Amino acid sequence: MEALPSLDRATEYFDRQASGYLAASDRLPWRWLRNSESAAVLGVTGPLAGVEVLEFGAGAGYYTRALLARGAAHVWAVDRSPEMLQQLGAARVTPVLGDVTGVRVPHTFDAIVAAGVFEFVSSAYEVLLNAARHARAGAWLVVCYARPSVWGAGYRTFHRRHGLDIHLYRREQFDAAAESAGWRAESWRRCGLFCIAARYRLTAGA
Ligand SMILES: C[S@@+](CC[C@H](N)C(=O)[O-])C[C@H]1O[C@@H](n2cnc3c(N)ncnc32)[C@H](O)[C@@H]1O
Repeated sequence: MEALPSLDRATEYFDRQASGYLAASDRLPWRWLRNSESAAVLGVTGPLAGVEVLEFGAGAGYYTRALLARGAAHVWAVDRSPEMLQQLGAARVTPVLGDVTGVRVPHTFDAIVAAGVFEFVSSAYEVLLNAARHARAGAWLVVCYARPSVWGAGYRTFHRRHGLDIHLYRREQFDAAAESAGWRAESWRRCGLFCIAARYRLTAGA
């Protein structure tokens, strides 16, 4: 797939952030946002014990670690930033350098997580469709994305300052894209100041 200039900038940006990314999650105000977000994301996941998980936009492994700590057997962690992938722990993780819109992982999954990556892609539908390609019958998908609001606009302004034009999604709009890609909405929660965590299920015949 041909890379879009804005995604190149995003990769450069996340490469620069990688070494301090996990530590930043532990500093205010990010810590408060993280706690709220992760409680919602982990609160809507399906069963994790013994499950192999595909993670899209894994970054430095914040959720990778949380999924493993909750009993996941293994995480296949996809990201476009090589520096972010360097931050992943080695045990029970397979790092995959690739674009979530088109990457092919040689495996199918019962569980897929994509948190904080939809803001940086030009088509959420392409990511959701690619997730469906990797899903087994009955698989669940948990996502976390930013929604339009005053705080969401602030998040967009924050990223504009380093040249990234991010995307925010209304829940109805995101659910419609998910449905077109073969995912039925099951559960959702608002979290942080401007995010939504949601679980979807692969529909029959997707
Ligand atoms: C905001 S960070 C979130 C990382 C992680 N999920 C977390 O919650 O800490 C977004 C991550 O998505 C990755 N990313 C952005 N666009 C991507 C794409 N098209 N394909 C793969 N990874 C992408 C970035 O490199 C970055 O690591």
